[in-house]
Amino acid sequence: MSKQFVVGNWKLHGSVAQINSVLGELAKSALDGNIGICVPFPYLSLAGKILEDTAPQTGAQDVSEHRSGAYTGEVSADMLADLGCKFVIIAHSERRQHFGETTEKAAKKIQSCLDAGLFPIYCVGDNTEQRENGQAEETVIAQLQAVKGLPPARFAIAYEPAWAIGSGVTATDEQISAMHALIKAELSSDTIVLYGGSVKAANASQILSIPGVDGVLVGGAALSAQEFAAICKAVRW
Ligand code: PGA
Repeated sequence: MSKQFVVGNWKLHGSVAQINSVLGELAKSALDGNIGICVPFPYLSLAGKILEDTAPQTGAQDVSEHRSGAYTGEVSADMLADLGCKFVIIAHSERRQHFGETTEKAAKKIQSCLDAGLFPIYCVGDNTEQRENGQAEETVIAQLQAVKGLPPARFAIAYEPAWAIGSGVTATDEQISAMHALIKAELSSDTIVLYGGSVKAANASQILSIPGVDGVLVGGAALSAQEFAAICKAVRW
């Protein structure tokens, strides 16, 4: 198994036709390693069927903090596990920005993933204002409270500066290695830390070669089978 991870985040994109064609092509790409594809809830079942017996495993982009009960509209970690999911992205910056996701709520969602045997990928990161004001580190340190004390083998952190997401601007090698080192120093040297923000086939090898980078979280480029497969093939084994 490769140590590095490649996880795709489809966000609010997809249709039955698109899932069939993109994941169908990926299923034929003979990929190997730690690969996740996080599609919208309605397509998890279909994605799981298409990817059956291949290396890529399915994942969700959010989960309820509750196990069951009168919580209309929610999807629980047990339901995701029941569908064969492995990964769950928690507290993506778009959820923090548009849906009021807090670090406290994220901690509960992470725990519900662990209870259900799922592998949470907890997103942390600074925005433009925080970076410009010299508050990037303190922002990330505060967000890390959600995973303090958890066993490092059971989850990953994704460092995703909001200004690098969907912008075409990646963080510099120095910014990435400094933040990954800080996260490992705050949690444990064994913590798996992925980088996310404008990762594509053209820059994946470079980013995956930065010390402290244990994988990548990929947004836009995950919608193309060709791009995503090329990123998977750029991992260090
Ligand atoms: P991007 O998104 O690769 O399109 O920048 C990354 C993410 O939001 O996880």
